[in-house]
Amino acid sequence: MTYPNHRPRRLRSSKTLRSMVRETRLSPEQLIQPLFVTETTPKPIKSMPGIAQLTLKEVVKEAAEIYKRGIPAVILFGIPKSKDEKATGAWAQNGIVQNAVRAIKDKVPELLVITDVCLCEYMSHGHCGVVCEGRIENDTSLEIISDVAVSHAMAGADMVAPSDMMDGRVRAIRSALDGSGFPEVSLMSYAVKYASAFYGPFREAAESTPKFGDRKTYQMDAGNVREALREAKLDAKEGADIIMVKPALSYLDVISKVKNVVDLPIAAYQVSGEYSMIKAAAEKGWIDEKSIILETLLSIHRAGADLIVTYFAQEAVKLL
Ligand code: PBG
Repeated sequence: MTYPNHRPRRLRSSKTLRSMVRETRLSPEQLIQPLFVTETTPKPIKSMPGIAQLTLKEVVKEAAEIYKRGIPAVILFGIPKSKDEKATGAWAQNGIVQNAVRAIKDKVPELLVITDVCLCEYMSHGHCGVVCEGRIENDTSLEIISDVAVSHAMAGADMVAPSDMMDGRVRAIRSALDGSGFPEVSLMSYAVKYASAFYGPFREAAESTPKFGDRKTYQMDAGNVREALREAKLDAKEGADIIMVKPALSYLDVISKVKNVVDLPIAAYQVSGEYSMIKAAAEKGWIDEKSIILETLLSIHRAGADLIVTYFAQEAVKLL
């Protein structure tokens, strides 16, 4: 059918009708709020207005607020008081993330607590794996990364989310969790994680900028999409429960293709740079922040993300 029999504008004629025929809807239970918890002095993150490094006490309060607003989950990042070459703070039983998990699960047991499993915030060199003679070693990193995941599970984490991009880490973590009596702890893999300049503000937030080189030997090249499908399928086979694509907005095609290839739930991470660009333009009065928040999240969901990790989670639920 063509014009004049078919007039697509008919279904756009009123707000009621538009909302009836809307194909994609956002709801609070799709959103995951990232939180930064610090072992030292809390401070606002300059490049991410509205986001701060929180103390243990503050993070519990924030978690309770988040749950009250209808957001089902948080993902925790830790800033330790000291860093070394073994990422001791990452797997310490009384590390900052482990303490935060215990404190949150104690006060807000229904809130799903996810932990980011990585070494970069805890390594003096800022890389996501063990460094030997200037190279990031894959297989020795797996042992530490598995210890980190188990320590989070011991503290009570519901889900672990490895973001290091070492090969084989999903299998290593899954078998470490199962072997330590945590078969019920689920695993969301940052399976498709690009080496992206959009992580810039996060590195200020988490104090995790690499001291030398970059992350391009482990994170993916922005030009690749077939490799994304390979990574996603590998992690699914190794035992991931949820597959994540990151960043989100510049990689909607990747989200869509991964969704078609893997039959697990798909998550996408609207990362720090995506957040900061919106905040900065809004501060200048150049865009309508509220509309942009909802439009970007809706687009990420429309592309195929079942779940979205976003610094806007709390703001978004107020708008929904
Ligand atoms: C840790 C990690 C990073 C992000 C999540 N986990 C940073 C990085 O890889 O450098 C980025 C999140 C964001 O930018 O919001 N490896």
